[in-house]
Amino acid sequence: MPFRDDALAGQHIVISGGVGAIGLHVVRALTSHGASMTVNDVIEPEEAQRRLSEAGIQPEQIHYLRGDLTRTVDVEQLVESARARFGPIHTTLCHAGMVIAKPLMEYNEAEWDRIMAVNTKSAFLLGQASVRAMLADGIKGHLIFTTSWVAETPWPGIAPYIASKAAMNQLMRSFARELADKGIRANGVAPGIVGAGMAKRQWDTEPDYRARAEKAIPLGYLQAPESVADAFLFLCSSAASYMTGSVLLVDGGCSLYPMD
Ligand SMILES: NC(=O)c1ccc[n+]([C@@H]2O[C@H](COP(=O)([O-])OP(=O)(O)OC[C@H]3O[C@@H](n4cnc5c(N)ncnc54)[C@H](O)[C@@H]3O)[C@@H](O)[C@H]2O)c1
Repeated sequence: MPFRDDALAGQHIVISGGVGAIGLHVVRALTSHGASMTVNDVIEPEEAQRRLSEAGIQPEQIHYLRGDLTRTVDVEQLVESARARFGPIHTTLCHAGMVIAKPLMEYNEAEWDRIMAVNTKSAFLLGQASVRAMLADGIKGHLIFTTSWVAETPWPGIAPYIASKAAMNQLMRSFARELADKGIRANGVAPGIVGAGMAKRQWDTEPDYRARAEKAIPLGYLQAPESVADAFLFLCSSAASYMTGSVLLVDGGCSLYPMD
């Protein structure tokens, strides 16, 4: 990727769900371009450190904090601990997510509530707490929400997830609209069908899903998680400084589905 190695030097970036499959690639890409990162996940610290170190991420550029970001108290702790470790937050990546895959008519209320909480509510709470900190610190910061190509396309078998990501797109646009006059920006990254994490788990275990997915990617191959990380690198860089309220779709053409 043709960005200078110091493209993000001096930036403090917070990420939720940062030791998941895609998150690790994002953390590696951003720290290797000079960012300091506060990394959150629900994973125990020992396991998180093992994953971060296995991914070749420099420990001095990372502050890890376990927390369930569906809870306000954990969100506030994360933001405070982040500022105490690396100072004012410049960018927050609302990246944590989950999926439960099944036909629409089989979901129960608890499953709907959990998906909306992990994907959408946590993004709202973390976005709001981050903006409060940015305003207090006098930072013209940036929120980036990980949504998905399915936010615009009703891909079967994950209906509540699709609704949660569509809600995140509009939440992002509301942050962008209401905070623009403070110089705070908000954007989204919408990956396609990635060969890592939740899509790869379905690809490996559900033959029907795999058969559908094989036909649904116009470029013809699963998305490399590195390409998602590249989109974050671009959005975190000064090259994207005039963007706010946009969703950067990086999906190999999936959203062109259904194809002939
Ligand atoms: N894999 C794909 O094809 C794909 C495509 C489009 C978008 N996405 C999005 O990318 C993001 C990462 O997905 P992934 O595929 O790497 O999945 P993943 O399951 O590997 O990563 C998700 C991470 O979020 C963490 N998490 C879950 N609940 C949390 C909570 N309450 N608080 C904090 N962290 C929590 C998990 O522990 C996990 O590490 C998600 O937002 C997902 O919706 C993934």
